[in-house]
Amino acid sequence: DEDPRIQGIKTKIRVVPNFPKPGIMFQDITTLLLDPKAFKDTIDLFVERYKGKNISVVAGIEARGFIFGPPIALAIGAKFVPLRKPRKLPGEVISEEYILEYGRDCLEMHVGAVEPGERALVVDDLIATGGTLCAAMNLLGSWTFKRQAIVCTCRVPIIVAELQMIQLACNG
Ligand code: PRP
Repeated sequence: DEDPRIQGIKTKIRVVPNFPKPGIMFQDITTLLLDPKAFKDTIDLFVERYKGKNISVVAGIEARGFIFGPPIALAIGAKFVPLRKPRKLPGEVISEEYILEYGRDCLEMHVGAVEPGERALVVDDLIATGGTLCAAMNLLGSWTFKRQAIVCTCRVPIIVAELQMIQLACNG
């Protein structure tokens, strides 16, 4: 029994074939952002789901987690922590490398942004291989000492499958 708002959100995500390379069906959330109702419905769905769940940290993955994460953080009364691509954060960082289809990338987080025992919600726009999410969970897990990070994504089909996706992401 799908929430009626989800169908509306789905129709606002533009699918662009063969971007940025042949064979990729790019899920473009900029068209969702152009519709204030669909954008608000997206945020509200996650707020309804995670409010009152004792989450003290919303961690957004660069770049599109920086769009969806902060409004969710404000609404559930959590702090926002950006997980950035390498060499962007000015303070002391911890880093987590991950494998991409071609090559490697890395996410970084400021030391001291998250404290032991905190509960984190990881926000991004979508999961493909799960490598990015897994790196984010490792970064947070090394500070919270809990592998309880939850993912939330605005790519609607994945909302339902989020926990299975985390397992897939972290077990390869
Ligand atoms: C996309 C997307 C996720 C990641 C998912 O980001 O926003 O962060 O890929 O892929 P994965 O599950 O295979 O790791 P992208 O690499 O395009 O980076 P950007 O947001 O900085 O453009």
